Amino acid sequence: MTLKDIKKLINDMTLEEKIGQLIQLPPFFFSDDGAMTGPAQEMGISEEQIFECGSTLSVVGAEAIRAIQDKALKLQPHHIPMLFMADVINGYRTGYPIPLAQGCSFDPELSGECAKMAAREASYDGLDVTFSPMVDLVRDSRWGRVMESTGEDTYLNSCFASAMVEGYQGKDMKEEGSIASCVKHFAAYGAPTAGREYNIVNIDKRTLTDDYLPPYEAAVKAGCAMAMTSFNTIDRIPVTGNKWILRDVLRKKMGFKGVLISDWAAIEELINHGVAKDSREASELAIKAGVDIDMCTGMYFSGLKTLVEEGAISEELIDEALLRILKLKNRLGLFENPYRFLDEDKAKKEILCDTNRKLAKKAAENSMVLLKNDKGILPLKKKGKKIAFIGPYADNSHIFGFWSLWCKMEETPSVKQAIEAGDYSKDVVFAKGCNILDKKAILPGFGAALDNEYSGDNDDLLLEAVSCAKKADIVVLLLGEHAAMSGEGGSRADIRLPKCQRKLFREISKVNSNIVTVLFSGRPLELDGIEKKSRALLEAWFPGTEGAKALLDILYGNVNPSAKLSMSFPRHVGQLPISYDDFPTGRPNDGNPGNRGTTRYQDVENTPLYPFGYGLSYSKYEYGPVILSKKKMTRSDTITASVEVKNISERDGTEVVQLYIRDMKGSVVRPVKKLKGFKKVKIGAGKKKKITFEINDEMLNFTTLSGRFESEAGDFKVYIGPDSQTENCADFVLI
Ligand code: GLC
Repeated sequence: MTLKDIKKLINDMTLEEKIGQLIQLPPFFFSDDGAMTGPAQEMGISEEQIFECGSTLSVVGAEAIRAIQDKALKLQPHHIPMLFMADVINGYRTGYPIPLAQGCSFDPELSGECAKMAAREASYDGLDVTFSPMVDLVRDSRWGRVMESTGEDTYLNSCFASAMVEGYQGKDMKEEGSIASCVKHFAAYGAPTAGREYNIVNIDKRTLTDDYLPPYEAAVKAGCAMAMTSFNTIDRIPVTGNKWILRDVLRKKMGFKGVLISDWAAIEELINHGVAKDSREASELAIKAGVDIDMCTGMYFSGLKTLVEEGAISEELIDEALLRILKLKNRLGLFENPYRFLDEDKAKKEILCDTNRKLAKKAAENSMVLLKNDKGILPLKKKGKKIAFIGPYADNSHIFGFWSLWCKMEETPSVKQAIEAGDYSKDVVFAKGCNILDKKAILPGFGAALDNEYSGDNDDLLLEAVSCAKKADIVVLLLGEHAAMSGEGGSRADIRLPKCQRKLFREISKVNSNIVTVLFSGRPLELDGIEKKSRALLEAWFPGTEGAKALLDILYGNVNPSAKLSMSFPRHVGQLPISYDDFPTGRPNDGNPGNRGTTRYQDVENTPLYPFGYGLSYSKYEYGPVILSKKKMTRSDTITASVEVKNISERDGTEVVQLYIRDMKGSVVRPVKKLKGFKKVKIGAGKKKKITFEINDEMLNFTTLSGRFESEAGDFKVYIGPDSQTENCADFVLI
């Protein structure tokens, strides 16, 4: 359709019909199997009005969607096709690692390939839009949704945001196998006070603009078709009714021209926030702030018509939102083909095909972080050692994370199944040792209480595990959170493993000191000493459909781990929020515990247990000094920073070389380091490579005291090293 045709269509539509396009209905209006990802709301929508609505979410499957679209085209007065949206977050049916794990790969391109694969599977099954990427910056692992972000760093999240948007959408959304991308949650949802879900966000404007907003802007620049408003407030104004952040920042400053959808019920929740009295006021705030689609409440349905009839808003405001929605449907080619790439046969061939499984496995291999490997207990040998695989994840296929709504356990080999089917050790035993959770069903879902087959104390399991551990040379302890302990509604004040698992660890460590601990989690945990009594420690996150095979290939050395943490592991929950790009303060910590007057705790070090950018390999790397092409730089030129990295082991490996910059003085306080570049390089055994980065003025920009985003002349340090704690640096001056 041409723009002229679209505008003509709008002119022919009644007000009720226009408002219908601004409503997204929950799945239960169309299907009994739709995944509920929010609270069910009474919406006051009649049977005949259902098909006047412009979209729905979480309904999947080619047959189901074809049937619904058929009905919508018939009943919709102007036969406008519906949009089908869903949370395809880390895979559709072939699950790959949760985004926090993908961030640890430091390989945005690989995530882009995974997004492309997910888009193919989802589009053949009838979906048009995914509510991904989630690019919220996260620094407090009490918040359950850290699992959906690629981590604590602005630059890293921006790189992944662009790659994922391009992966989902391709160059043109009429390209077969593409789906529209909806960046979320705009904005700063990742900083809820005290890590408590849906809590208010209390950050200053400079932190918002310099640290939290750039990843959304990266997604906008990559052309994301949609954006989703967040549940939180900014400056005590709920985002979904916040004209400044939505119209002035997102649309005007960032240039976002796409469709803005509220998060689930976020328009109605303006009433709970206490900034709207009723649906009329809530609708007025949201439509004036520029929210185009009301997700899953009756606010726009009941409020907008009244507002227009009373003259409180002009119909143009509705036409503006409608134009963006119809343009999106047009960009997706829906007017020419309302089914897009929906194809039952192609879906059957594509979903979980070998190519997709291989890619999911590669992504998992690149996301698991080796945090400790004392005296090279890893890699495991296939012969000569009796190995006991113990723990609630020894034989558990639920390793694909909270938002893997359509992944199936029966399509996901457990560690036990993968060992039995693969070429690993033969002299192995398995024992569950305990359930994941101590108590019954403490994990409510949105639709209903989640299965609690993983809960309850069981001493028999413990006794059996201890007996296996006594007879083994090595114990691989597979521990972790239940997937529903993170994700939405997954905030926790205590981020240690459940008590029954800590008890299992204690009892096993009493009878066997050769422990390799593997963690399945959606967040950096407080390890509570587990790392001390483990000879090796590997964070597997929730690695997806092929995760068990990827894990075993790392444990047995078929794959050399290369991942680095995209989010810090705290020593104690009391340190949260924590991130590497800390500020010196007026009394910098001097490391002297006897000095009371420095920024510190009395009982815990300031530093994390494992810092951002940290991760081990089976290879060993030595870094040479940082060499700069010159010591002075003007705003119009660049400096080349280089370092030689030598692989001093006998094993080929891949190293993520990281570039950080420190601005030694500014018109406002400046962090001790900021990641400004990274390169993932293969280095052969015994070989060395020269790694170079170009430093330019743009890398030095920040919101200065003037309010302008610019650099300031002065002294800078350039760090290049294996993680954010590197002291390998050189100085230059910006003149
Ligand atoms: C949820 C989440 C959001 C998701 C949406 C639709 O409440 O906050 O991330 O995309 O609803 O499922």
